Amino acid sequence: LTVAVVFGGQSSEHDVSCMSGLTIMKALDREKYDVVLIGITKDGRWLLADSMEDVESGVWRNSKIQAVLSPDEQDHGLILSEDGRSWKQRVDVIFPVLHGMYGEDGTIQGLFELAKIPYVGCGVLASSVSMDKWYTKIVVDDLNIRQAKYVPINHIEMRNIEECVAKVEAALSYPVFVKPSKAGSSVGVNKASDREELKAALKEAVKHDIHILVEETIVGREIECAVLGGYAPEASDVGEVLSAEDFYTFDAKYNNQESKTDLHPVFPEGKMEEVRADAVQIFKALDGFGCARVDFFMEKDTNEVVFNEINTMPGFTSISMYPMLWNEKGLDNGALVDKMIQLAFE
Ligand code: DAL
Ligand code: MG
Repeated sequence: LTVAVVFGGQSSEHDVSCMSGLTIMKALDREKYDVVLIGITKDGRWLLADSMEDVESGVWRNSKIQAVLSPDEQDHGLILSEDGRSWKQRVDVIFPVLHGMYGEDGTIQGLFELAKIPYVGCGVLASSVSMDKWYTKIVVDDLNIRQAKYVPINHIEMRNIEECVAKVEAALSYPVFVKPSKAGSSVGVNKASDREELKAALKEAVKHDIHILVEETIVGREIECAVLGGYAPEASDVGEVLSAEDFYTFDAKYNNQESKTDLHPVFPEGKMEEVRADAVQIFKALDGFGCARVDFFMEKDTNEVVFNEINTMPGFTSISMYPMLWNEKGLDNGALVDKMIQLAFE
């Protein structure tokens, strides 16, 4: 089976994706798979990487071989070629290890659909809805699962920031979280404790997305659950993020050694099962297929489970919860990628 691992990408999570991509490349059993490595640069060029070492060192960015995607003559499989003539490679399945915009948001999934090539992870609809925190809220509002109260704001409304502030203050009290609706790894996310901070946070958020989501602050534990599967998805146990900073920012996640993950946190009776059931319910409601990590809070005073967000291509770095939660369940990374690839053909 020839697997194309696609990594990098145009989003603010480009570097995280390169780290995740390496984990996947290392996990793929070379006895079973021929592996093709395609890196997408920050400006959107698709380049063929020669080796894992080139990915690790970043040298792949100097590759002279541009890759393109198209269906082959038999209308199945895929051909990658630099100019449509000089180099061709049939690929059986694509493993897009991309986070954020143009990778996890349904756009590239749509390209794979057009090219008639099976791919790992969620399809177009689940990817695009899950990438957008506002639209995810609308879907989850229909389930009997609590989420933070929220106020959506769009870039047109942002022409009158005073009105945006009034809209937020009418519905929520400070401190609030201000998030670009389609941001990953907390990029562009800020906490605002008063009107001035709110304005600054809104202006920052709108740089990243035309939709902004303002949410009430939930004080509590940050917990995450991994979902894997197709028509009958399964949930892992629940892990906890122990952030070194006020909230789990990009820096806290990837640059602060003090941030830790706990794979065996202690919860009040029944809570683990509740989170697992909620994770599967949310995954299904969003038309999830393949994999996703579903993130929640457990509110401090009430122990109530509050849905936070879903990531349809969760991180696979060495500190990432998704693979670790499955490792705990007895699936090592090799078995995990096998399962993910197998699901692409269901
Ligand atoms: N968006 C990052 C990669 C994550 O959720 O793990
Ligand atoms: Mg995320």
